[in-house]
Amino acid sequence: MSRVSVCASDALEEGGAGVRFEIAGAGDKPRQAFAVRFRGRVHGYINSCRHVPIELDWNHGEFFDTSKLYLICSTHGALYAPDTGLCVGGPCRGARLEPVKLEESDGQVWLSEARSE
Ligand code: FES
Repeated sequence: MSRVSVCASDALEEGGAGVRFEIAGAGDKPRQAFAVRFRGRVHGYINSCRHVPIELDWNHGEFFDTSKLYLICSTHGALYAPDTGLCVGGPCRGARLEPVKLEESDGQVWLSEARSE
């Protein structure tokens, strides 16, 4: 099985814009996901807030808050830890973003085959 590339490694800058991508969902419906870089590592999540299931980014690909320390939901301001997906502030505090496992090698970010559901 061939690996699925998400983006080039250099497309993800530390605390910078994320890359949106789709993964297979139930049936034929794709699920929206995104990747960001935080403290040198790449992290991926389903692009759905745990408060109300809508996408986090207001401006396409903008997931970090101004401090660059948290991912922020554009709708009601939930703050998520970029490395764990844990909501640390806002209406869904204690909930977690749904992770999408990613790997980084050969200058590329790849979708890991053994992704968590
Ligand atoms: S929809 Fe994300 S905080 Fe309300």
